Amino acid sequence: MPHIGKEIQELRALLNHHNHQYYVLNEPQISDYEFDQLMQQLIELEQQHPEFADPNSPSQRVGSDINKEFEQVKHRYPMLSLGNTYNEGEIADFYNRISKQLIDEPFEIVCELKYDGTAIGLSYENGQLIRAVTRGDGVQGDDVTANVKTIRSIPLILNGDYPSSFEIRGEIFLPHKGFETLNQARNEAGEAPFANPRNAAAGSLKMQNSSLVAKRPLDCFLYYMLGDQLPSNLHAENLKKASQWGFKIPPHMKVCKTIDEVFEFINYWDTERKNLPYDIDGIVLKVNSLEQQRRLGFTAKSPRWAISYKFKAEQGYTQLKAVTFQVGRTGAVTPVANLNPVFLAGTTVQRASLHNADIINTLDLHENDMVYVEKGGEIIPKIVGVDETARQPGALKVQFIADCPECSTPLIRIDGEAAHYCPNAATCPPQVKGRIEHFISRKAMNIDGIGNETIDLLYRHEYIKNIADLYALTPQQLTGLQRMGDKSANNIVAGLEASKQVNFARVLFALGIRYVGETVAKKLASAFKTIENLMNADMEQLTEVDEIGERIAQSVMAYFANEENRELIKQLKHIGLQLELSDEEQAQHSTALEGLSFVVSGSFSSFSRDELKALIEKNGGKNLSGVSSKTNYLVAGDKIGPSKLAKAEKLNVSIISEDEFKQMINL
Ligand code: IVH
Repeated sequence: MPHIGKEIQELRALLNHHNHQYYVLNEPQISDYEFDQLMQQLIELEQQHPEFADPNSPSQRVGSDINKEFEQVKHRYPMLSLGNTYNEGEIADFYNRISKQLIDEPFEIVCELKYDGTAIGLSYENGQLIRAVTRGDGVQGDDVTANVKTIRSIPLILNGDYPSSFEIRGEIFLPHKGFETLNQARNEAGEAPFANPRNAAAGSLKMQNSSLVAKRPLDCFLYYMLGDQLPSNLHAENLKKASQWGFKIPPHMKVCKTIDEVFEFINYWDTERKNLPYDIDGIVLKVNSLEQQRRLGFTAKSPRWAISYKFKAEQGYTQLKAVTFQVGRTGAVTPVANLNPVFLAGTTVQRASLHNADIINTLDLHENDMVYVEKGGEIIPKIVGVDETARQPGALKVQFIADCPECSTPLIRIDGEAAHYCPNAATCPPQVKGRIEHFISRKAMNIDGIGNETIDLLYRHEYIKNIADLYALTPQQLTGLQRMGDKSANNIVAGLEASKQVNFARVLFALGIRYVGETVAKKLASAFKTIENLMNADMEQLTEVDEIGERIAQSVMAYFANEENRELIKQLKHIGLQLELSDEEQAQHSTALEGLSFVVSGSFSSFSRDELKALIEKNGGKNLSGVSSKTNYLVAGDKIGPSKLAKAEKLNVSIISEDEFKQMINL
């Protein structure tokens, strides 16, 4: 059926064309509806005729829900970083150094924006995208090809006179709009929002399920071409060519012949970046001629022919309207500054965190002060300074509150801690609701269908006042709530029933004991095996467990000393939650690796990396992320990074194979 093959080819070419018009050129020629119709046609034809399958068909952009770990791939050219500069003097030093090394021969500097996302290297063979690899440690990175294929502005197939083999590098990022929509959706689903677009982009790229990545509006600018047969000897010309082949290249770049032109570009974008629809954190300067680049060469870490200039964090200047106090699930009270709205680095800011009483004092914050705000790595921006010259006469100093704003209980301050706490854990509403929210959250009991809003309604109807009450909810009570249908109500009840199978370690984490995070909960569950043992453990027994210090031990003991908590545990037991290790878990546990630390690297034949790590923990060992003097063993798999091996050798860390590891645990 050659005509079917031809039809498929034509449809693919048409979809690629419209995709490029929309995502790269921003000039759609057909409606979204028409595009979807064409795509549907293609998907159907491909399903009926699997003999014409092609990994780079535009239909592959929707991703797949196959979960797989990323393979480590060595970069053909190491992925280096750039030296940073922070002022004009340092730029001038860079410029003069180049001038000197090129013995006063003329040179051009290409100025580009420094996109604040996550770096990617794309390899193309014969015009087809064959691999996409993250930066990793610079020597090798994760093969994230399946995820990258879902990014619509990255061409899967090239047009024109491209070289048969080359790599192009760039930055994957999330524009502001996409970031806000994503975080809104996460909030509604009761998931933790991403701190900034960079984290969101990096997190998205590392998701296991590419069909979920396909739903994230990621974008990509390509800014660096590598290969043996590049079209031009000039960097800027190569990017122009790349754009003709279908890549999205940086729209704002300038070839400069003098240092003054460079400064002009920097100064322009220092203010103009506020109007970009995505984050940039600086400017990148590159020598234009590849031949001159070669002569300038590299240091161990970065090229001598390029450098980045980092902008100072953008500051907003606005007025403090009021300081309000929020009570979290553990009772910690956080002061929040409510501000007159101010536009800062792409978004409108109305609130800033003040963290604790000490920070308010150090800032010497007064009512209605004019303040400077900055966005750091966190979601909520922070106040970095106060304009004392603008203070209104007679303004009062901002005082930390003495009583809980939610339940009026006098606050306490624990010695040596900066935070104030509301001690009324039993009935202070945000603490009660917060504990329930934590209990049902994805990493804890993972109960589908209940969001924070539902918890709030259930609490206000007085259907629930602790986590045990969740299990007494009836479908009738649930359907009585706003916007809750029969189906959702039944789902929730089924979800609660299913949660009775969630293992002991997660139940322990779900209880929300202060300082007992996922890892600590796992350690406690394996060490004590049953909740009774844990409840009766004393300081000595607790601190004997690896990684459990006095602070955690004290918190665990205080939790179980509380009569209400003991009563709650009794109820949970009665309901049927897992409050001890299952027989299967018990059988799998051993102390064969107790006291030993491992780093796992490369790929293995009998299990995945995560499975191997889980085995280490089950046998009492500890996983470390990098090789250090604290490492006892490096378990070396296939394609292990040479840098890890070298480091292990240098530090005399024992390097063992998969088989040797298996012997250690009698597998
Ligand atoms: S060129 C050898 N150009 O900044 C030169 N990098 O600190 C390779 N970045 O890892 C990098 N925008 O992730 C280059 N226009 C741009 C860039 C850029 C952002 C990132 C990139 C790199 C890091 C260097």
